[in-house]
Amino acid sequence: MHLQLDRVSKVFGEGRSSKLVLEDISFEILPGEFVALVGSSGSGKSTVMRLVAGLERPSAGAVLVDGRPVRGPGSDRGMVFQKYSLYPWLTAAENVAFGMELQGRGRPEIRERTAYFLEVVGLAGSASLYPRQLSGGMQQRVAIARALAAEPQLLLLDEPFGALDLQIRESMQEFLYQLWQRTGLAALLITHDLEEAMLLAQRLHILAPRPGRIVRTISLASERSDLAHLRVSPQFLELREDLARTLRSLDGALGA
Ligand SMILES: Nc1ncnc2c1ncn2[C@@H]1O[C@H](COP(=O)(O)OP(=O)(O)OP(=O)(O)O)[C@@H](O)[C@H]1O
Ligand SMILES: [Mg+2]
Repeated sequence: MHLQLDRVSKVFGEGRSSKLVLEDISFEILPGEFVALVGSSGSGKSTVMRLVAGLERPSAGAVLVDGRPVRGPGSDRGMVFQKYSLYPWLTAAENVAFGMELQGRGRPEIRERTAYFLEVVGLAGSASLYPRQLSGGMQQRVAIARALAAEPQLLLLDEPFGALDLQIRESMQEFLYQLWQRTGLAALLITHDLEEAMLLAQRLHILAPRPGRIVRTISLASERSDLAHLRVSPQFLELREDLARTLRSLDGALGA
């Protein structure tokens, strides 16, 4: 799929209490591309995600999938949120199966695909466990398996690892990177973690707050066999410091 945001603005509220949250956002994701959007809290990242998901409509401009305006949610776009969005009363397998049941797939197919995607995220042995019996990282892997099982063409990830501690976060970044390499799925990662965006994305947009707008776009080298090595490489650290300075100046300028 080809996703395009063409001069998208979003206003919430009306009249005097109206608020411009996004201004003139344009970017695109081509099939198989991994794009990240980085910005501080309140810069409108989740609003961008909700527009792409079809949960909100733009106030101006257009959100296009293969040239057609997005009119609502669709199984072509799979979502993973920061907060664990699993149903606590369903097992890992039942959570993965849930979306496919809504799609009206047959039982044998659902069973087979559930087993396959739990295997993909490394949780084949945890199929019958409930969310409370899983760690945060495992729960997010179930959420990713659930999104993948619906066969999306674009994976939308809104702070997917935001609630995880640093060590699990790093292994989940590694996991997501391997997954993306294996599946060739297009992805939009929304994060306030600059390093995470730099490690995973091929292209990164920096969002300035109030109103949210893209102030810098960076293409990143696509060769990265080893994330742990990349994290500490001199060019990576230099670019990270440069971009961190940009982010700090945006917050500083607005007194946030
Ligand atoms: N439905 C809504 N009605 C009114 N204002 C909204 C609505 N949704 C978001 N906003 C406002 O839009 C701004 C951007 O919110 P958004 O959730 O997109 O930011 P964010 O970058 O995802 O922040 P965070 O990093 O904290 O998740 C905020 O000021 C928020 O209060
Ligand atoms: Mg958000």
